[in-house]
Amino acid sequence: MTNSYEIIDHEYDVVVVGAGGAGLRAGFGCAEKGLSTAMISKVFPTRSHTVAAQGGISAALGNIEEDDWRWHMYDTVKGSDWLGDQDAIEYMCREAIPAIIELEHYGVPFSRTAEGKIYQRPFGGMTTKFGEGKAAVRTCAAADRTGHAILHTLYTQSLRHNAEFFIEYFALDLIMSEEGECLGVMAWNLDDGTIHRFRAKQTILATGGYGRAYFSCTSAHTCTGDGGGMVLRAGLPLQDMEFVQFHPTGVYGAGCLITEGVRGEGGYLTNSEGERFMERYAPSAKDLASRDVVSRSMTMEIREGRGVGAEGDHIHLHLEHLDPEIIHSRLPGIAETARIFSGVDVTKQPIPVLPTVHYNMGGIPTNYKTEVLNPTRKDPNAVVPGLMAIGEAACVSVHGANRLGSNSLLDLVVFGRAAANRCAEIVDKGASHRSLKGGDNGQKALDRLDHFRHANGNTPTSELRMQMQKTMQNHAAVFRTSEVLQEGVGKIDECFAGGADLKVGDRSMIFNTDLVETLELDNLLYQAVATMHSANNRKESRGAHAHEDYPERDDKNWMKHSTIWVDEKGNTIHGDRPVVMTTLTNEIEPIPPKKRVY
Ligand code: FUM
Repeated sequence: MTNSYEIIDHEYDVVVVGAGGAGLRAGFGCAEKGLSTAMISKVFPTRSHTVAAQGGISAALGNIEEDDWRWHMYDTVKGSDWLGDQDAIEYMCREAIPAIIELEHYGVPFSRTAEGKIYQRPFGGMTTKFGEGKAAVRTCAAADRTGHAILHTLYTQSLRHNAEFFIEYFALDLIMSEEGECLGVMAWNLDDGTIHRFRAKQTILATGGYGRAYFSCTSAHTCTGDGGGMVLRAGLPLQDMEFVQFHPTGVYGAGCLITEGVRGEGGYLTNSEGERFMERYAPSAKDLASRDVVSRSMTMEIREGRGVGAEGDHIHLHLEHLDPEIIHSRLPGIAETARIFSGVDVTKQPIPVLPTVHYNMGGIPTNYKTEVLNPTRKDPNAVVPGLMAIGEAACVSVHGANRLGSNSLLDLVVFGRAAANRCAEIVDKGASHRSLKGGDNGQKALDRLDHFRHANGNTPTSELRMQMQKTMQNHAAVFRTSEVLQEGVGKIDECFAGGADLKVGDRSMIFNTDLVETLELDNLLYQAVATMHSANNRKESRGAHAHEDYPERDDKNWMKHSTIWVDEKGNTIHGDRPVVMTTLTNEIEPIPPKKRVY
């Protein structure tokens, strides 16, 4: 197909795609260090999905009880079911402390203790004394609107620096040289329909997760994994895509998040017999076991006929016993959510909840410096020059097979900052940009845009999206079997092929939401294929991947990251990389694998 779009050119040292918590922290960090920086976002920055994070951000500050970043590291490695890279986890847990103090100084309005220190609450899977002590009080909170507080503060910080914003620009595809170096990104300005080519010495993908591949999720409608789609189309792999986190407490029916902070403040779950069933599954941590454990336990209760409600298909979350003042001061947001989405007064009635897709542990593979990897057998740590990824879009991997609650906001700020630091080290401000001659000059991105813009098949985008979401919901759920996964592979491949029959009704270039949703669906489809095929490929149970035909963790054969390539026809290639089992410093020994019980 030939098409001619006028292109507006830009040159920056660094281009950041996505302006949520990770993107903003990286972007203003680069600008602060004197690098010319562009920030591209498909939504206004303060509408990014970080705004929805509720319960908090972890750091071993020890404001309420004794704590140590090494205990935090132990919990994170155990939470990851030994699939997390220990160098990166050490980096994150150690850097958590200065990162939170920095946030405080930037102006994040954290809740406070009586002495005026940052308020902290218990969260799932967080313990003390290398799992031998009591629950840790480690999650720093701004009531139950911590993400909102952090995102708005980071945005105001970024206004202090000279990062340039390109808001309501939709990133189309990466520009890659023939040698495999990233040279920048193509984007479409939704507001006036113009096309922009951003050339950059480093391109940082901070595009978030792809929760919307599922029917029921806590993610915003914008969480369509645009960075992951771009990476796969650039011929690069994604990593650990089979690991999808179900948050135990999504509102039944609506899917909205009810923070784990509720259980951190003393809330608990019951089945139809009024039993606090988590005492059976996790005798020590109970309702504050890690998320994969709680979600599986709830699913077992429902399967065994002890679900609540007319159809016995959900679980009750109780806060009625809490002091209303605690609800008012620390959990005001979820009280409102429960009232609006389930008609419940949390001071009097339990909230109906169900495990709901919440987070993608998998994503774009990076090292702890945030550089994107293109692993080969010869060099599993080979770096893609010019490309970085951070936040939920990335797989560093600090979360491995299961992320602990409140380690996500932490990941955003720690690795957003790490990306800025790395750019300051490696970007040569004086150097000119690499020539676009010989490789892609952005034309491939425009061909794809034009293809979908004029798509004239028989399937509306919303119809194919629903087919994909139902397939993912039913075939890559909390529990998986070989039969269900195998069937899921067939169905998701059909969905991918269905992309050829899409119909887009609006051919305009100005705020064409039909076309935006179609491009987003294309990104989702790539990652849905990667998820289903990776899940079918991993023959063990680990973290969030609970395979009923292989119920045990198999460290001998499967203690490795899975990688997957998906081409434009939906064909997949599987690979793997070793898990990093060494630490960065001798301040902590590597944490050897053991059975994971709570
Ligand atoms: O439950 C929550 O507040 C979610 C936190 C997280 O996913 O880190």
